[in-house]
Amino acid sequence: MSVTILVGSQWGDEGKGKIVDILSEKFDIVARYQGGANAGHTVEIGEKKYVLHLIPSGILRKNCICVIGNGVVIDPNALLEEIDLLESNGINVEGRLLISHNAHLIMPYHKLLDSINEKGEDKIGTTGKGIGPCYIDKYARKGIRIVDLQNKRILEDKIRLNMKEKNDLLRKMYELEGLDVEQIIKTYMQFDKRIDKYIKDIPVYLNNAIKEGKSILLEGAQGALLDVDHGTYPYVTSSNPTSGGACTGTGIPPNKIDTVVGIVKAYTTRVGMGPFPTELIDSEGETLRKAGAEFGATTGRPRRCGWFDAPLVKYSSAINGINYAALTKLDVLSNFKEIKVCINYRYKGKILKSFPTDVERLTSVEPIYETLPGWSSDISTCTSFEALPGEAKNYLKYISDTSGIKINIISIGPKRAQTFSVSEKTRY
Ligand code: GDP
Ligand code: IMO
Ligand code: MG
Repeated sequence: MSVTILVGSQWGDEGKGKIVDILSEKFDIVARYQGGANAGHTVEIGEKKYVLHLIPSGILRKNCICVIGNGVVIDPNALLEEIDLLESNGINVEGRLLISHNAHLIMPYHKLLDSINEKGEDKIGTTGKGIGPCYIDKYARKGIRIVDLQNKRILEDKIRLNMKEKNDLLRKMYELEGLDVEQIIKTYMQFDKRIDKYIKDIPVYLNNAIKEGKSILLEGAQGALLDVDHGTYPYVTSSNPTSGGACTGTGIPPNKIDTVVGIVKAYTTRVGMGPFPTELIDSEGETLRKAGAEFGATTGRPRRCGWFDAPLVKYSSAINGINYAALTKLDVLSNFKEIKVCINYRYKGKILKSFPTDVERLTSVEPIYETLPGWSSDISTCTSFEALPGEAKNYLKYISDTSGIKINIISIGPKRAQTFSVSEKTRY
């Protein structure tokens, strides 16, 4: 059976949660491989709306086993809150959620340092969930991991050692009071009581599952342009949302990956700071924001909105190895008489041959647009590709041709029924 990676192709919030929910009907296991509670993946089922931050969106399919891989950074409070919320909605998590012993823990000082870093002029516009500082400790080899919850002596020693350094920093550098070490030790000593039952050797589990013929969907968080290596650095997150991160973040080797699915929004959005060539800062941007309900699922911040950017998606497709795309939020463009698509960038009078990720160039490029006719009608009840208006089909063909992606799934609303497959001519 197959191992499929699902990635966000732009700057996050492409609708990954919705498409994972659709696809997970046919998967045995869904695993998150990076990021943390900075993610907000929305799934609408009937009248219910779930926003998942840490737990894979497959949890809403009762036959799916969900895995949090070693590449994820886990805030234990956020995790337990999410479990409680799901269980209070009748969704059984116990026995269906497995957490890697090697995943790192977000500590209270990570969140505090995240908020302090955001006070400076060079702020990134983070979600404030402590993601960056936690990955800093991971790579500095000072991190505290899920496995440490199972050995109280090691856990206490590690917290003391870390907190000595962090409290020194808070006091000497920021002239703040240090955090209460004893309180944090007491709190973290308790977590094993509730988390222990979920802990598992995930690389062993997943590789055995592959041998047994089980199918696995690897759910990326954020998006390719937020990748710490391939994104618009420094305006990125601190992990690798691109498909390569799925292997290191779970322990599944690259030669076991069959397919990469890219989730592509029919236009572009971004939350936080950083360059955004096709951003609309006028009333058209406001129209997109309103029609697409573009407000952060984690922080509630208004998302910056702009036209579809073909060079960006082409770049994303190349670095992710996208086999096919799920195109989301096409319905949102129904509000426009004319729709623009960025097909190239001009920089210092010359057309760029490749997508520039460096902030200096990306801030100065001039997008070159093609204008396409809109369809000016409600498409949110269409049940097949054939039923779409000609202008919508034309738009899909145009963005597919200019960005080099094959569109296989189309989403025209947040609900399950507002989804259809192009090639198999099926409705989900
Ligand atoms: P994710 O982080 O990639 O999972 O995306 P978010 O959940 O943060 O944001 C996507 C938003 O768009 C959510 O509110 C979804 O319910 C909604 N959504 C997903 N697909 C569609 C679609 O095709 N049309 C519309 N109108 N909304 C959609
Ligand atoms: P999902 O999975 C959109 C952005 C933040 C900020 C930058 C760094 O829902 O698509 P961080 O807190 O990660 O250190 O913030 O990354 N960001 C996201 N933007 N969707 C997300 O997740 C995001 N997660 C982080 O806004 O610009
Ligand atoms: Mg989101």
